[in-house]
Amino acid sequence: MQKKKNLIVFGTRPEAIKMAPLVHAFQKEKDFDTRVCITAQHREMLDQVLDFFNISADYDLDLMKPGQSLYSLTAAIITGMQSVLEEFKPDYVYVHGDTTTSSIAALAAFYSGAKVCHVEAGLRTHNKWSPFPEEMNRQLTGRLTDLHFAPTERAKENLLKENTPTNKIFVTGNTVVDALQHSVETVTKSLSEKAQEIEEWLEGRELLLVTGHRRENHGDGFDRICEALQQIAKNNPEIAIVYPVHLNPNVQKPVNKFLKDISNIKLLEPLAYQDFIWLMHRSKLIITDSGGVQEEAPSLGKPVLVMRDTTERPEAVEAGTVILVGTNTEKIISETEDLLHNSERYNKMSELHNPYGDGKAAQRIVEIIKKH
Ligand code: UD1
Ligand code: UDP
Repeated sequence: MQKKKNLIVFGTRPEAIKMAPLVHAFQKEKDFDTRVCITAQHREMLDQVLDFFNISADYDLDLMKPGQSLYSLTAAIITGMQSVLEEFKPDYVYVHGDTTTSSIAALAAFYSGAKVCHVEAGLRTHNKWSPFPEEMNRQLTGRLTDLHFAPTERAKENLLKENTPTNKIFVTGNTVVDALQHSVETVTKSLSEKAQEIEEWLEGRELLLVTGHRRENHGDGFDRICEALQQIAKNNPEIAIVYPVHLNPNVQKPVNKFLKDISNIKLLEPLAYQDFIWLMHRSKLIITDSGGVQEEAPSLGKPVLVMRDTTERPEAVEAGTVILVGTNTEKIISETEDLLHNSERYNKMSELHNPYGDGKAAQRIVEIIKKH
């Protein structure tokens, strides 16, 4: 019997983390010829993840350019995918979530005639501009998709409201939990060199972990976020803030300008996934605009302040682990300080929850594909 051909496509750090469990699950299946195509929309931040999960790409479009625009990236992905699809002729193409790589690779896969499989399908804010451009990337990908792997019942409901056929939607959980479970035990058992270096700098202080990169926050939003962090550091000299800074120049510039020389703030290069998980585990509180971090934190019992006005991940808000604070300086400061000092509220928010999955999502996807 001829093997079914899978092409798993991703391009950025979070896609790689969340697709790694699926790559591993399919690589064990003898009846499938599974190949990995990276657009390398990210470069260093993607390669860190590939190293950790021991994944090598069969096709590497190597597209990242410093300060790339959405226009040039979109054009490069659609052109780059053509030769890969024409050479390999996959039966199934897997894309993840909401990046430019996901939506444009889905379009290319549709042109090729392959079945489009969307992992992390059905998340919605229904606000075209928030998150930008991710909300539209998800909606576009959804229109092109044949098999929708929704992480939660809520995501399935969103797809049903758009008249997606019910027999094409599968609630699998989010593979982010598979990746986290695969890694968390090993990384907390023994400290890496990087983790030791951070631990020494912390000198036993409580840790506030920060990340941020959203396009709609670039400019004024980041200025307000940095002002809030400056104030929090000043008002609370007993705590330490660690911020691994995303490589996007629109993030690097304001963060370095406002936060570089503050003694209880440590700015770092993006961390390898395993070191970042350790840091989440070590933290008291997380302030972020990241989608993936919002999903990981409830499984680690860490309260999260999300610097966004909307979220396509309401489950953790409902579970009580996540609060939306937008990019309002005063609100970020007051919510952070309340959680630092109000132990009753803090303890309530740090209860463990797993609204996004049970660590078996990738295997469920494999079993579903075997029947389609
Ligand atoms: C992208 C995704 C976003 C996702 C985020 C995860 C789009 C439009 N955006 O945003 O949905 O949440 O990744 O982090 O798909 N850079 C490097 N090295 C890297 C990565 C990025 O130098 O390894 C710099 C480059 O200057 C690059 C810039 O960051 O041009 C922007 O990268 P890009 O992928 O276009 O956007 P992100 O803001 O990373
Ligand atoms: N992450 C990482 N190193 C870091 C910061 C984050 O490996 O320095 C991981 C984090 O654990 C999560 C993912 O990267 O799985 C989130 O990526 P990002 O915030 O860039 O993108 P988003 O999830 O918002 O699309």
